[in-house]
Amino acid sequence: MENNITIPKHIGIIMDGNGRWAKKRFLPRNMGHKKGAEVFQDITRYCNELGLEAVTFYAFSTENWKRPQEEVEGIMKLFKEYLIKAFDYEKENNKIVFLGDKSAFSGELLDLMLEIEEKTADRTGMILNIALNYGSRNEIINACKEISQLVKEGKMSIDDINEESFSNHLYTKNQPDPDFILRPSGEKRLSNFLLWQSAYAEFVYMDVLWPDFTRKNLDEAILEFNKRNRRFGGV
Ligand code: IPE
Ligand code: IPE
Ligand code: MG
Repeated sequence: MENNITIPKHIGIIMDGNGRWAKKRFLPRNMGHKKGAEVFQDITRYCNELGLEAVTFYAFSTENWKRPQEEVEGIMKLFKEYLIKAFDYEKENNKIVFLGDKSAFSGELLDLMLEIEEKTADRTGMILNIALNYGSRNEIINACKEISQLVKEGKMSIDDINEESFSNHLYTKNQPDPDFILRPSGEKRLSNFLLWQSAYAEFVYMDVLWPDFTRKNLDEAILEFNKRNRRFGGV
């Protein structure tokens, strides 16, 4: 990266296009997810090198359970494999947080998620968010329920509900909002990703499929981000 480039603080990445990548090669969709998981690892390392404060990868949405059982099972198996061996959470300084409703998971996968979060909680490096069974609407409703419960118990007053206190009940509590949302694969939509948090984010859509995504593509996206004039409602 060139010297005079502003690196975003927090990038949100919608890892999309795995299925189409596989289809183009007459391979089963899960081969696309496998290649996508390898790219996820490499891009995570690159985000560390670039010095980001946080990066959020959208890995599985609350709507993705609709997919054929074989595909969902394959994806869950991949998560497990990656969390166990390939993802070297012992050596890196990333604080790993799983965004999403964990109540859908159980057994070995849930244990791994909790163990990784606990082991990395005090890390001082980049925050690595992995959105698993994540949906923004679900997240916002969950925050409403938590706040209502506090109000009901007399631990919070209605006047204390504001943007800041509300944000503290989202899965991304205590984190900077994403300044940049990136979606490869050619689709131009958010698909229920970080709706609240991306209120002032810049959006970049790219025509490359996620399994083909390279460090150079991320450089290009950051250059595009640098061309944007962010006004935050001012002049
Ligand atoms: C993204 O790739 C991965 C997940 C949603 C789990 P897709 O599987 O959505 O790939 P396409 O969009 O069908 O190509
Ligand atoms: C969004 O991709 C979810 C993830 C990348 C995990 P989808 O492929 O599920 O989104 P749609 O169906 O194209 O909106
Ligand atoms: Mg898709």
